[in-house]
Amino acid sequence: MNIRLIVNGGTTNVEVTTPASLLHVLREELGLMGTKDACEQGECGSCSVLLDGDLVCSCLVMAADADGLEVTTVEGIGSDGDLHPLQRAFVEHGAVQCGFCTPGFIVAGVHLLDRNPVPTSGELREALSGNLCRCTGYGGIERAVQSLVEGT
Ligand code: FES
Ligand code: FES
Repeated sequence: MNIRLIVNGGTTNVEVTTPASLLHVLREELGLMGTKDACEQGECGSCSVLLDGDLVCSCLVMAADADGLEVTTVEGIGSDGDLHPLQRAFVEHGAVQCGFCTPGFIVAGVHLLDRNPVPTSGELREALSGNLCRCTGYGGIERAVQSLVEGT
C-alpha cells in the first residue's frame, strides 16, 4: 500500500508492504540511518522517534499505521552545523562513546524536556529508562540532560 508520511517537516509517499515497520521504512526506504536498528523488540530504545509528538519505538510501529502522521527522527532535531542544545550537551559532557545509542537518547531527552523543562532526577531517569547504552555511559548521559534542566 502507499502511505504518506510527514518526516522531519517534509511530506513523502512510500510504497510499503503491510508487515513493514516504521523503522524499516525510515532506514531502508528513506535512508534515515540515524534511527538505529538493534533489538527490533521494543527493548533498547535505539529506534526511538517522535510520532505526532509521542515517543515511540519505531520497530514496534507498523508503517501502515503511521500513514498521515508526523515523524521526527534525530535528523530532524539537529544538523551538522546546527546542533540541538541537547546534542551540544552530549558532546560537552562526554555522553557519547560508540554513539550507537545516542540518537535514541537524544530523541527521548528532547521529548522529556519539551514537555517537562524541570524534571526531577527521578522523572529524568524514568524518561530515559527505555533506552539502553551498551557502553554503560549512563552517568554522562544523565549529566548532559540534567545540564539543560532550568535552574540547575
Ligand atoms: S530496535 Fe526498537 S527498541 Fe530496540
Ligand atoms: S555510547 Fe555505545 S551504546 Fe551508548
